Amino acid sequence: MKILVSGGVGYIGSHTVIQSVKDGNEVVIVDNLSNSKIEALNRVEEITNTKIKFYEIDLLDKEKLNQIFCDENIDAVIHFAGLKAVGESVEIPLRYYNNNVVGTLNLLEVMKKNDVHKLVFSSSATVYGDPHKVPITEDFPLSTTNPYGRSKLMIEEILRDLYKSDTKWDIAILRYFNPVGAHESGKIGEDPNGIPNNLMPFIAQVAVGKREALAVFGNDYPTVDGSGVRDYIHVVDLAGGHLKALEKLNQKPGCVEYNLGTGIGYSVLEVVNAFQQASGKKIDYKIVDRREGDIAACYADTHFAKTELGWVAKFGIEKMCEDSWRWQLQNPNGFA
Ligand code: NAD
Ligand code: WQD
Repeated sequence: MKILVSGGVGYIGSHTVIQSVKDGNEVVIVDNLSNSKIEALNRVEEITNTKIKFYEIDLLDKEKLNQIFCDENIDAVIHFAGLKAVGESVEIPLRYYNNNVVGTLNLLEVMKKNDVHKLVFSSSATVYGDPHKVPITEDFPLSTTNPYGRSKLMIEEILRDLYKSDTKWDIAILRYFNPVGAHESGKIGEDPNGIPNNLMPFIAQVAVGKREALAVFGNDYPTVDGSGVRDYIHVVDLAGGHLKALEKLNQKPGCVEYNLGTGIGYSVLEVVNAFQQASGKKIDYKIVDRREGDIAACYADTHFAKTELGWVAKFGIEKMCEDSWRWQLQNPNGFA
């Protein structure tokens, strides 16, 4: 299959490109490098030993996007391109809505025009808002608390409407839980700008000596030890889920949502412990107030992805920490 991967130079995209090439697909990447570095693509080419076609293009540039679809004979699209920082989305909501929603609309229009109707979309567990219970199944009520989350939910609704209007489309909406980890080679991984917002890259930077201590956001949640519980999923497992979703699209499933998680929740303090074990480094931390907008616990019911896609996550928290650590240690300054 020839797959167009939007956002393919980014964290999850780059790992998925590797998996796609491994599975014998041809990949064309579209990325504007707004949140990634070309060095990530060089490393993907090194790992796969394959030259990958890359277009440095913004999804907001519909004409150039259309030209790619005219030039390349695309069979399916995996759509990662989007801005993802929750806090930033509160400060600059218009940029988030424009980039994420308008960018996706452009992509969908261009796909339709060029008769490409297979799409895998990166959604997020954030569309479940503050879930009334855990584990979360795909039919839980949807709600969001910030512009980033709303952009994901809006796109989901657009995709469901699109399918209703024309059943030629086949769309897998993948709701990721908390992606962490890195490629086993240590050559690619998550490379956040500035101070990491997310837990795992922050811990890794404490371990490598770039940050003094982790601030644990709250120890008074109704969880095992009072700190927040999440479903961390290894990015390589996540990448595999995209390939399974693509396979499924060939069976004409329609527009379907799938949770991609492990089904297991770990608290912040449990992750700190696991990282200490994996790295042999002491992770200093201090307990601070809860972070606004955070929820107590979030983890997936994974049965639907298992039965429908034949996909289950293979890697546990130990491997997630080991691989994050290897990446951090080998690249203390990321791709810079
Ligand atoms: P990332 O920022 O590493 O990758 C996104 C890529 O898209 C980047 O390379 C960026 O340059 C590119 N991009 C952004 N806007 C673009 C545009 N308008 N045109 C072309 N390229 C553009 O993020 P990631 O962690 O790999 O996430 C990939 C997708 O998964 C995103 O849509 C994100 O919202 C979603 N997601 C991520 C997480 C997470 O915690 N990482 C969780 C749930 C969902
Ligand atoms: C995990 C846990 C924090 C940092 C976010 C987005 C979500 C999705 C994934 C894109 C929580 C705690 C964190 C720190 C801490 N992204 N924490 N100290 O908040 O579950 O999800 O990323 O779709 O939309 O909201 O992930 O890694 O930020 O936090 O104590 O310095 O770690 O309170 O319990 P989160 P996270």
